[in-house]
Amino acid sequence: MDGFSDQPFRTICREMGSSVSYTEFINVLDLIKPHPYILKRITFDEAERPVGFQLYGSSADEIMPAAVKLLDQNPDFLDLNLGCSERRVASRGAGAGLLDHPEEIEKIAKELVAQTGLPVTAKIRLGPDKTDLNYLEISRLLQDCGISLIAVHGRTRDQRWREPAFWEPIAEVVQAVKIPVVGNGDIKEIVDIDRMLAQTGCAGVMIGRGAIGNPWIFSRVEKAMLSRKEILAMIKKHWQRFSDFQGVNESKVPFNKHLKAYLTSPQFFGVNIPQLLSEKDPVEELFKIFNI
Ligand SMILES: Cc1cc2nc3c(=O)[nH]c(=O)nc-3n(C[C@H](O)[C@H](O)[C@H](O)COP(=O)(O)O)c2cc1C
Repeated sequence: MDGFSDQPFRTICREMGSSVSYTEFINVLDLIKPHPYILKRITFDEAERPVGFQLYGSSADEIMPAAVKLLDQNPDFLDLNLGCSERRVASRGAGAGLLDHPEEIEKIAKELVAQTGLPVTAKIRLGPDKTDLNYLEISRLLQDCGISLIAVHGRTRDQRWREPAFWEPIAEVVQAVKIPVVGNGDIKEIVDIDRMLAQTGCAGVMIGRGAIGNPWIFSRVEKAMLSRKEILAMIKKHWQRFSDFQGVNESKVPFNKHLKAYLTSPQFFGVNIPQLLSEKDPVEELFKIFNI
């Protein structure tokens, strides 16, 4: 997840039981004319393997030079983002913007498979909108192009994050293709993992927002059962890795989104979170409150 699943958070999720790491999505245009943030985005820890770079771009001509360049970093796989509904991405025909252009998807997928020699995976939504649910067509197409695994987010591009995710189409994709299908959308709690597996027959699940502030979900430990001390220990570990990675001063504001999510839990009732987050050094303030 853009802005969340950086190397520090991914290594924590891995230690908690996640089985695969995807980088935050990478704008291929930023790789060709290297952008300063990109070095951090393509950094991963050996312990994260298998790890894949997730790419977005609007055409094979845009994506291929970046994909080839990334081979030097020795990832285990590459993932093609066909799911991002952000306007700045989709409106330029990248991410879920490509769902209107199966012919370009075919070209990109075939070239990625042929020219990188790596397993290539893809992440899709159900289609551009409810009048054009082309997930089966796109899934079969991806399989025919040699894609190794498809992750399906059970919403259309137009839905963005509105309405609950539809899981039935994920089950249809499982039936329609022979490659592994990963189900995604609205896995908020541990029980949802088993519901998704049972209802769709998918090979695995992808957890997005449900992991923010709750990496324990990967070890099937209920956050509600944890002590305040255990949550604070995780915040400390995450903060240390985050600030080592970003630099302490550069970390204070960006870490707040993680901090807020960790603290949104009954163990922290009574803590004035908005006030804490407005402090100059919120983590230090939190540790002061709890004598850490
Ligand atoms: C802040 C944010 C950033 C995201 N960034 C990415 C991304 O870089 N690549 C991607 O494939 N999906 C991204 N997503 C989508 C999620 O991976 C996931 O498909 C979606 O949130 C539905 O799953 P969930 O209900 O478990 O969150 C992002 C979602 C959020 C909320």
